[in-house]
Amino acid sequence: MPIKYVPFYPEPIEGQALLNNFTRTRRALTYRDNDKPVQRILRGMPLYEVDKVEQVGENPDGNLVIRGECLSACAYLKDRGIQVDLVYIDPPFASGANYAKKIYLRRNPKVAQAIEQAEQELNDEELQAFEETMYGDIWTKEAYLNWMYENLVAIKSVMSPTASIYVHLDWHIGHYVKVLMDEIFGEDNFQNEIIWAYDQGARGNERFARKHDTIFWYSVSDTYNFFAEKILVPYESGMTKWRYTKGLQAGKEMPEGKVPSDVWDIKFNSMTERLYDTEKPYELIEKIVRACSDENMVVADFFGGSGVTAKVAHDLGRKFIHVDVGINSIQTTRDRLIAAGASFDILEVRDGVALFRNPAQTMEKLATLIPGLGKAEGLDDFWAGAIQDGKNGMIPVYLPNLLDHRAKLLDLPQINRIVNEQIPNLPDGVKKVIVYYVDIEDEKEARAFIREYGNPLVEVELRDLKTVLHEIVLNDEVDYTLTETAEGGWRVEITRFYSDRLAQKIEAHNQKLQLNAGKKKTRQRKLEETAEEGEESPTEFTPLEISENGLELIELVSLDCTADDGPWHSDVEIKIDKKGYVIRDGVKTKEYWDATISSSRKPLRLKIRNIAGDETVVRVEYE
Ligand SMILES: C[S@@+](CC[C@H](N)C(=O)[O-])C[C@H]1O[C@@H](n2cnc3c(N)ncnc32)[C@H](O)[C@@H]1O
Repeated sequence: MPIKYVPFYPEPIEGQALLNNFTRTRRALTYRDNDKPVQRILRGMPLYEVDKVEQVGENPDGNLVIRGECLSACAYLKDRGIQVDLVYIDPPFASGANYAKKIYLRRNPKVAQAIEQAEQELNDEELQAFEETMYGDIWTKEAYLNWMYENLVAIKSVMSPTASIYVHLDWHIGHYVKVLMDEIFGEDNFQNEIIWAYDQGARGNERFARKHDTIFWYSVSDTYNFFAEKILVPYESGMTKWRYTKGLQAGKEMPEGKVPSDVWDIKFNSMTERLYDTEKPYELIEKIVRACSDENMVVADFFGGSGVTAKVAHDLGRKFIHVDVGINSIQTTRDRLIAAGASFDILEVRDGVALFRNPAQTMEKLATLIPGLGKAEGLDDFWAGAIQDGKNGMIPVYLPNLLDHRAKLLDLPQINRIVNEQIPNLPDGVKKVIVYYVDIEDEKEARAFIREYGNPLVEVELRDLKTVLHEIVLNDEVDYTLTETAEGGWRVEITRFYSDRLAQKIEAHNQKLQLNAGKKKTRQRKLEETAEEGEESPTEFTPLEISENGLELIELVSLDCTADDGPWHSDVEIKIDKKGYVIRDGVKTKEYWDATISSSRKPLRLKIRNIAGDETVVRVEYE
């Protein structure tokens, strides 16, 4: 339950057209029979508990890497009085795609054969890998725009009066979002529609290849930062020279060059350079940061992904705030910033969504976690399915959609919908429904509402989903030995690692492979019946196997020699890249990992991050 709701940016801009077909921040509650319209509206941004989970360096500038939703991160910043000077966001595009991350098994330091194998550089295809969903980008337009509206209003609430925002989209939804931005920021504050053109990648032959994204730039007011002199580009030869003079005092040297146009030709990062599926080019964000912020200003990205924005900001001497819901984003960004020598705090918003690695995975799991839940005839899509019960018969079950923040919180308007719209439409004879929630506005009030307005013949049971989820998540197990070295330092050797979460994932991956191979074989057999001799034989599948000691499942090992509780301090750390090379305290090496990590100070805690990003911390035991 949120601690409180922080108000959004005040009212829409005066004189600006309003698009009233969106729900926006309004969630009006209308009682049964419409006889008593009660207005419960303008909830604001939910502020949750926020924990500092790691501190990297001294962090005098207050740089932040926040794991949480854009909305709750904005609530936190606003509550703390933190303002930002420049925002770049590249939110999901409503592209209808699911984004997945490839997870690579590492080289096992204890398996000789693997060592030999690793002696030769493996290319990406040869590495053992499986895939995992990172986030879904599947929405209806209306749901997307409502969601976007709230995010944009929330972001505006933390922007300084001279700040700018850049919103990166494409042809799927960009034109709709521009209309929203006109409403929120005001048409007069629209500055540019930037076209990022990249003439690369696959193309079909049905139409012109779609090879550009659109970035809208709005300012909060007509006083905004634009350092044109920092981004001038050379004149083409033969062109009349125009000297850039705006804002420069007479007598000072005038820089030469022209202000670039709003069409930017920038190469897309190649697949191998990318740390993240949807990673944007450094050069693109650099141009924005140089143009619209000065040193020491705060640059924020609320859908930060791989952390390019934070990295650019750090490199250019700006302060940064990186926000994302996914654990992989936070880790990729953290590692990238550590390698760049940045210092920052990592915060986690306790908003109930961070239950698994990301909300998309939590949703994937949900349906399988409720014992007995199955499909049922005659039920609307609103219900996740039903449980068949000896006493009550069919019990419809409602599960919140964690990907839609409006449905995530069980508040009175949502309970009203269940009680007054959904339950009356259930098939005859239903005596009970179960409503799961991850977050409830006010449980007492909810129960009172159900008693007063619900159908007395249908029991509504409210259940906290978090208890179900916690039961099934087992922490990873790690065994290690500890020795004091001759030089007075310490050496930790990992002897065994076991991850139930990964074991399940790999098992599921293998089953899928087996199924596909089976299907292929059947197809192949059919072909062979009619085929000539010497044609290809059926393909076999090679399952992924985990060794006895499981060391190939480790991505990062870190020791905290500073504190045995509270925020993590990584005093030494070893990261194993996907080819098995060690990255020591952010520095790449050509060494293979030998299953150990050493420190000069006494280690108090040991942290292991597995290849899918789950982290396990254990206190180091001394005899
Ligand atoms: C298109 S990617 C951003 C890529 C990034 N610009 C880069 O260069 O790596 C969108 C990101 O938004 C995150 N995301 C999705 N919904 C979010 C929400 N409500 N709040 C914060 N982040 C969210 C996803 O986890 C994903 O990392």
